[in-house]
Amino acid sequence: MYRSHTCGELRPEHIGTTVTLSGWVQKSRDLGGMTFIDLRDRYGITQLAFNMDENAEVCEAARKLGREFVIQATGEVIERSSKNMNIPTGEIEIKVANIKLLNGSKLPPFTIEDNTDGGEELRMQYRYLDLRRKPVQEKLRLRNKVSLETRKYLDSQDFLDVETPVLIKSTPEGARDFVVPSRMNEGQFYALPQSPQTFKQLLMVSGFDRYYQIVKCFRDEDLRADRQPEFTQIDCEMAFVEQEDVLETFEGMIKHLFREVRGVELEEKFPRMDYAEAMERYGSDKPDIRFGMEFVNLNSVAQGKGFSIFDNAEVVLGINAEQCAVYTRKQLDKLTDWVRRPQIGAKGLVYVKCNEDGSFKSSVDKFYSQEDLAEWAKLANAKPGDLLLVLSGDLNTTRKQMNELRLYMGDELGLRNPNVFKPLWVVDFPLLEWDEETERYHAMHHPFTSPKPEDEHLIDTEPGKVRANAYDLAMNGVELGGGSIRIHDRALQSRMFDLLGFSKEEAEAQFGFLMSAFEYGAPPHGGLAFGLDRLVATMGGSESIRDYIAFPKNNSGRDVMIDAPSPLDADQLNELGITLK
Ligand code: AMO
Repeated sequence: MYRSHTCGELRPEHIGTTVTLSGWVQKSRDLGGMTFIDLRDRYGITQLAFNMDENAEVCEAARKLGREFVIQATGEVIERSSKNMNIPTGEIEIKVANIKLLNGSKLPPFTIEDNTDGGEELRMQYRYLDLRRKPVQEKLRLRNKVSLETRKYLDSQDFLDVETPVLIKSTPEGARDFVVPSRMNEGQFYALPQSPQTFKQLLMVSGFDRYYQIVKCFRDEDLRADRQPEFTQIDCEMAFVEQEDVLETFEGMIKHLFREVRGVELEEKFPRMDYAEAMERYGSDKPDIRFGMEFVNLNSVAQGKGFSIFDNAEVVLGINAEQCAVYTRKQLDKLTDWVRRPQIGAKGLVYVKCNEDGSFKSSVDKFYSQEDLAEWAKLANAKPGDLLLVLSGDLNTTRKQMNELRLYMGDELGLRNPNVFKPLWVVDFPLLEWDEETERYHAMHHPFTSPKPEDEHLIDTEPGKVRANAYDLAMNGVELGGGSIRIHDRALQSRMFDLLGFSKEEAEAQFGFLMSAFEYGAPPHGGLAFGLDRLVATMGGSESIRDYIAFPKNNSGRDVMIDAPSPLDADQLNELGITLK
């Protein structure tokens, strides 16, 4: 028996009992005749006490133990003379009679403490040590709780967990595929699923009615804080449903998760906003509605006054940063530099300070009178003390840039409290998106998404105006999940592939199996998928999903611990019939 109790378990009621604990040496302190060791395991920390006078041999042995040594200690639980009320075991300690070294440890490359001195790269290289740290373990514990509660909820709603294959054919979720060469079919490749989209639709054709899976998905795309090349979806599909049924079911799931896992009661009915409105008010299809600072169109007051940059722009957009008129020249320069960074790409930033005395000071005073600026302030509902920030250019780009600036200001002004959770359904997405580069329409969600029946007549004449039965759940500026009501009719699905520029042969080769299935009594169906990593990170109050993944990849898609990806040896390549260029 390695242990009678864990390191987080002992309390004053155990005083007088003899116990055995096993764990890692967190740290040790020598105080003259006494040596103390903090022994750690997943459950907590317990203090071990060694007395030189009473048990010199064991005390000597204890003094030789280094950080992260694995030991077993047996002794009596006694009351601590100087109690540590910061930890649950802080009222007791173990008067150690015997210790056994179970394994030694090299000096760890960084301290295994809540606030470690290890940099990101080093911690990722030794992720198994990083994972010993309590804050990291807590994040994975949160993840465990979320997936457990997800299963409970979906099970209670009659969803069946069905596994789908990982070696498949390309799925069109808009990213590049990761591919796997087939040895048995030389020269041919599997693709790893970007999502189980087509399989879950087939399960509806099979009559499963309600499906879910907590499943790994793979996408070869550029990485960001909220994107990993392999990530996990809570993937769901339902038959005989309309959009309303899907939204209601999953609103229920999200409320259940916040209640059970975080003890947070989300609002009874999640607000909804259509895509067009979200873009107009926030320039984003996943607006953070924890704070206002909504976009104001200033075209009517900013154009026609001789300032050519604004006159030539498709749109002049402003946001009102309340109480920021106190911003100094230096702060405004910093903001201007920030929007000019290549990642944002604005050419410049115009500001208007609404002074406390009712006057205005702007970076465009040459072109605008005090009366003009008063008009701007009125439109933006800016009061004395506020600061207007203005960007201009073509509509889509300016919206994107202003969205970034709004979120940045939200952070600067502390308006994005990570303990406040504001869900928002964004609905009525456009079905298609025009891509300038390829000069073609792309499916905004994916090609299986159905058009709104009332917009179907526009498909041939004005495809860009057709709205889809598609929806996303945004929370705190993060897209937590998205889905749609699907096409379940072969003719409409073929038409959709036509529209997306697939030839009949291409559509047949790639998705013939699905279209054939639609000929055998496919029920109306729809569903959605949540990003589990993003959901857990949001619940944990973080924007980075990496901390919530046990073994994540770095920004170049590498696992620096196992050193992957790595070259294949010649034999392996040979067997696969692959020659490298
Ligand atoms: P979508 O592509 O919107 O939809 O993906 C669903 C959710 O998955 C999460 N997600 C990611 N999380 C981390 N890293 C990534 N690289 C990444 N990509 C996506 C997001 C996103 O909202 N088959 C459809 C769902 C459906 O229609 O039912 C799909 O995959 O949180």
